[in-house]
Amino acid sequence: MTQEKNAFRIPLFKPWLGNEELEEIKSVFESGWVGLGPKTTEFENALGQYLGVKNVVGTNSCTSALHLALEILNVRGKEVLLPALTFVSTAHAVIHAGGKPVWVDVEEDTLCMDPEDLNEKITKKSACVIPVHYAGHPCEMDTILKIARDNDLGVVEDAAQAMGAEYRHVKIGALDSDLTCFSFHATKNITTGEGGAITTNSETLARRLRKLRFLGADRDTWTRLKEARERYWHFVCESVGYKYYMNDVTAAIGIAQLRKIDKILERKRYLFSRYSEMLAKIPDVEIPVVRNGVLPSAYAYVIKCENRDALMEYLGACGITTGVHYMPVHMHPPYRKYRKKLPVTEEIWHKILTIPLYYELKDAEQDYIVEKIHEFYKK
Ligand SMILES: Cc1ncc(COP(=O)(O)O)c(C=O)c1O
Repeated sequence: MTQEKNAFRIPLFKPWLGNEELEEIKSVFESGWVGLGPKTTEFENALGQYLGVKNVVGTNSCTSALHLALEILNVRGKEVLLPALTFVSTAHAVIHAGGKPVWVDVEEDTLCMDPEDLNEKITKKSACVIPVHYAGHPCEMDTILKIARDNDLGVVEDAAQAMGAEYRHVKIGALDSDLTCFSFHATKNITTGEGGAITTNSETLARRLRKLRFLGADRDTWTRLKEARERYWHFVCESVGYKYYMNDVTAAIGIAQLRKIDKILERKRYLFSRYSEMLAKIPDVEIPVVRNGVLPSAYAYVIKCENRDALMEYLGACGITTGVHYMPVHMHPPYRKYRKKLPVTEEIWHKILTIPLYYELKDAEQDYIVEKIHEFYKK
């Protein structure tokens, strides 16, 4: 199909970046300190305050955050329960930390981890569970946390997509899990280009994470200089850690983004509801559900639809970018050996389609997207 004339060119996601971020970056350049330092601490504190959690540890991605989290909870040689309907990072982190992935199926409506299937997949070797808040819709955390507690499992939430989401009026990142990991990758609700963070109310875990993200050293360079003690250059490497910390340039972007988060969420939630109102009228399209007691982050708008691939091609030709989140991880070559039957995941992934959703998406562009979906099914 040829590209329609005068069609909009609409991306799937787009960060909302501008002068506010440039001003913050400028101040970091002028300070002469661009590594892990005061801006990172400022960002961590601001994020902690926003989420209502005691500790935030900034990292260079959510992938590294997940790896650190699983390393700290010591899953080596043990089983880690996670959905296969997630980005490969969640599973990579399990492998990097020496764990064995055990897939849990998802609920048909929310596409989040199914607590019933979680219960069935637990064995004596299970060490940890990773609920993934799919598209920013919180998992059934009360049930998952109870199952985890009853079975002595660690809980690491993959909240890469859940910045701003709430579960029973508590922000994701401040629940009773051991650790929660966020992403500030380019497509996320707030971005630092690349970046991540781990949140926890445990001082002990936070202290260990701060060392592990900085190569296992007892003090990072900025802290050593700030302390202005004798032998300021001296540090002790307590373990073989990782170079996974955030830096002050990306943290500066994060500070500016955090000031805009309420506006971003308000707009994205408006567009999310507007999509649902309009798309509910198309019989071949199933709109995403929002469970009682949760407030999704409105990170992505994922429909379930008939003829997904043909619709994707049609919309592409109309200048509308779409995506599939995800081909399940257990279908990728390195993970085939861990394959188990996942009836819902394996059926549903052929139907899911992510359509554009971002702060600057105009109402008129959204109308155009809905019109084109309508048009496809009328043909
Ligand atoms: C569910 C999920 N987990 C983990 C990640 C990894 O995040 P990052 O790109 O910050 O490493 C992503 C990023 O897209 C994600 O969507």
